[in-house]
Amino acid sequence: MTVTAFRSSVFHCLSDPGSFSNDEAVEYLDDGLLIVNDGIVEVLGNASDLMPGLSKNIEHVDLRGKLIVPGFVDCHVHYPQVDIIASYGEQLLDWLNKYAYPVEKKFADPAHAQAVAEFFADELLRNGTTTALVFATVHPTSVDAIFEAAKKRNMRLISGKVLMDRNCPEDLSDTAESAYSESKSLIEKWHGDGRLSYAITPRFAVTSTDEQLAAAGRLASEYPDVYVHTHLAENTQEVDLISQQFPDSRSYLDVYDQNNLVRDRSVFAHCLHLDHQDRNIMAAKNASIAFCPSSNLFLGSGLFDLQAARDSSIRTGIGSDVGGGTSLNQLRTLSEAYKVLQLQGQSLPAYAAFYLATLGGAEALSLDDKIGNFERGKEADFIVLDSGTASITRRRIASTDDVAEKLFALMMLGDDRAVCATYLAGKEAWSI
Ligand code: GUN
Ligand code: ZN
Repeated sequence: MTVTAFRSSVFHCLSDPGSFSNDEAVEYLDDGLLIVNDGIVEVLGNASDLMPGLSKNIEHVDLRGKLIVPGFVDCHVHYPQVDIIASYGEQLLDWLNKYAYPVEKKFADPAHAQAVAEFFADELLRNGTTTALVFATVHPTSVDAIFEAAKKRNMRLISGKVLMDRNCPEDLSDTAESAYSESKSLIEKWHGDGRLSYAITPRFAVTSTDEQLAAAGRLASEYPDVYVHTHLAENTQEVDLISQQFPDSRSYLDVYDQNNLVRDRSVFAHCLHLDHQDRNIMAAKNASIAFCPSSNLFLGSGLFDLQAARDSSIRTGIGSDVGGGTSLNQLRTLSEAYKVLQLQGQSLPAYAAFYLATLGGAEALSLDDKIGNFERGKEADFIVLDSGTASITRRRIASTDDVAEKLFALMMLGDDRAVCATYLAGKEAWSI
């Protein structure tokens, strides 16, 4: 048994600050003690209350002056696209043809997949992301590579083989049958292995035939606790294509729904062009949304209506969507989210923003019984934040004692330099 006490300021969310008062929704301890027993949170409290009763044998990590928050959750990201981040000048469909598909072809080589997966996993940790829902490529070995990299580091990670059997390069195409059989083998191999889970991953309905979507739906019914992960209603040209390809479906969401792909543990990235009925169906079926602000701005896709998602009670987390997104860092992603909402007359106070990146993401991934905050019994995935080396950030944060104001400055100005250390299940996985 290993017991460690981390002493620091600590912030976490207990529920959604958008729906509950701050007193109920968040907890801040200026001089807190987080006690971790074999990777699991035993207790969080004020150092002054807990120190006197502590056994002399437990290890102490003194992080006073810094801030511990739960590890960030990235609800939508493509690991094979790290090498095309910041590629100039196109919107979604042209961007896929010009940049995404060519780089994904390289994953036919398992050695390439392994090298990129290793880099990606390290970058997530360096940026404070401890859990992610990740697109691989169509190649089963690309899934092996990312799961192996995550397992080696003890990260919580969900991934799956991309399914696409039309409107894509031939050498990235599978079939309805191979999509089914390869995904099934990967589920049997990886789902539930330690902290790993599998996601059935049709790329988007544009690149799947009816037969392939039906095969994905069949697999989903056979494995109710596996995830479904895809893109939905990101770009208006894409939405137009869907209505041509699926004239019998009421909406883009309906294409997935008709194939049994809208359910608990279905995570839809983007969701910019939905109507009221779509949102009601998503809510009724317990599906989740990944809000991807930096990608939506970079690819010129549109502005996500967070208020509408909230009003419909759809669980929503935040996704970097690299390589359409421009940063793996969730502080950067939150700052883009703030601006997207400002443009629509909506707000994103700091507490609500940190909720999106932590407990809200955990809820969107149905993992809030395991991660997302420091309730007793949860896995101790957390990060240590500082105001970083950028002097304007340090100066701005030093100028206030108000926690919400400090967190807001951190999310608007901070980046990877604000993350001093990342802990997975109570063990240091990365530090400066
Ligand atoms: N829609 C289908 N594939 C992709 C992708 O790789 N990135 C984004 N942003 N949208 C997609
Ligand atoms: Zn994406």
